Amino acid sequence: MTHPNHARLAAVYGRRPVVLAPMEDVTDVVFRRLCRSVGADVAMTEFVNVEGLLRGCRNAKRKIRLADDDRDTAIQIYGADPDRLAEAAEVAEAAEPFFIDVNCGCWVPKIAGRGAGAGWLRDPEKMVEMVRMIVRRVSLPVTVKTRIGYGPEDRMPILDLARRLEDAGAAAITIHCRTAQMGHGGAADWSYAARAKVGLQIPVLVNGDVRTADDAMRALESTGCDGVMVGRRAIEHPWIFREAYGLLRDGARVTPPTRGERLALCKEHLVANVGERGEPHGVRVTRRHLSGYLSGLPGAAQLRQKLNLCDSLAGCLEILGSGREPGPTSHADGAQR
Ligand SMILES: Cc1cc2nc3c(=O)[nH]c(=O)nc-3n(C[C@H](O)[C@H](O)[C@H](O)COP(=O)(O)O)c2cc1C
Repeated sequence: MTHPNHARLAAVYGRRPVVLAPMEDVTDVVFRRLCRSVGADVAMTEFVNVEGLLRGCRNAKRKIRLADDDRDTAIQIYGADPDRLAEAAEVAEAAEPFFIDVNCGCWVPKIAGRGAGAGWLRDPEKMVEMVRMIVRRVSLPVTVKTRIGYGPEDRMPILDLARRLEDAGAAAITIHCRTAQMGHGGAADWSYAARAKVGLQIPVLVNGDVRTADDAMRALESTGCDGVMVGRRAIEHPWIFREAYGLLRDGARVTPPTRGERLALCKEHLVANVGERGEPHGVRVTRRHLSGYLSGLPGAAQLRQKLNLCDSLAGCLEILGSGREPGPTSHADGAQR
C-alpha cells in the first residue's frame, strides 16, 4: 500500500509552498518551529551524514529527532555510497518525517570531492540509480535537492537529469539554480528550473536568491515551478514566509514586522535556544539571527554591539528590553514601523 504521505506531499506541493531550505547548524528543531510560526508549512532538517546515522552517533540522532509539533518536516541525508544511503533512509524513515530528501547539491569540497552532495552530479547515471535504490527501500516519498550541474559543463545535466529522477521514482525535486562550482556566489539562473520543469509530472521547487515576496512570485511565474525554497533570507528575516504567502495566495502585501515583533522574535529565539542547549551555547547560536531580526530598527547597531558581548540569557533579554521605544505608544505594535 502506498504511504499516505505521498498524497499529502502532492496536496501540499500543489498549494505553491514556500519551503524552508535545509541549512546546516540552522534548521534545527527551534528554528523550524519559529519559521512555522510565521508561515512556513514545509521544513527540512539540516543534512545528516549517513555514516553517522548508521553508527547511531549522538549528533546524527539529534539531527533527525523531530518534535511532536514538527509538522511536515523532511529529513535530509547525504552520502556517497548508494547502499549506505538506502540503509540510512530506513533509519530516517523510522523517525517518521514527512518525506526523505537526498542531498545532491552540497558543493563543499570535503563532501562533493568524496562523491557525496553535488559530487553525484559528476555521474548523473549513478545518481539516478542511487535514487531508484532508495525509493525501493522505503515507503515514504523520496525527494532530491540538487543543482543545475557541477560546472562548467557545456550543457547542464539538470534538464535530462530531472526527467530521469522522475522515472526513478523521486516524488519531487528541488533545483538550486547554480552549479556546484559557484558555491553560493553569482546569481542563480532560474531559467534552468523553467526548462527542467517542462514535461515533468512531479513537483519542482525552484531555489536560489529568493529574498522577497516579489522574488517568490517572479520565481514561480517565470519558471512554472510548483513552489519555492528559501534559505539565507530566512535566517535574517523569517517573516519572508508570511510575506510570500500573502502575495502568492491572497495577492496581498503583508505589512513588514513591527518593532515589537522584531524584538519579540529575538527574545523568543534566545529563550528557545537556551532551553534546548543551555547557556552560553544557546545564546551564541542565536546571534547569527539577531542582527537580521533587528534590521532597520533605530538603535539596532548599538543593540547588536551589546548583544554580541553578552553570553547570558538574562543579560540579552535586558538589552532587548532597553530596545523598546520609549513613550506611551511603545506597546502598540503598529506604532513604530
Ligand atoms: C548556512 C547554510 C547551510 C546550508 N546547509 C545545507 C544543507 O544542510 N543541505 C542542503 O541541501 N543545502 C544546504 N544549504 C544550501 C541551501 O539549502 C540553499 O540551497 C542555498 O542557500 C540557496 O538558497 P538561498 O539563495 O535561498 O540561500 C546551506 C546553505 C547555507 C547558507
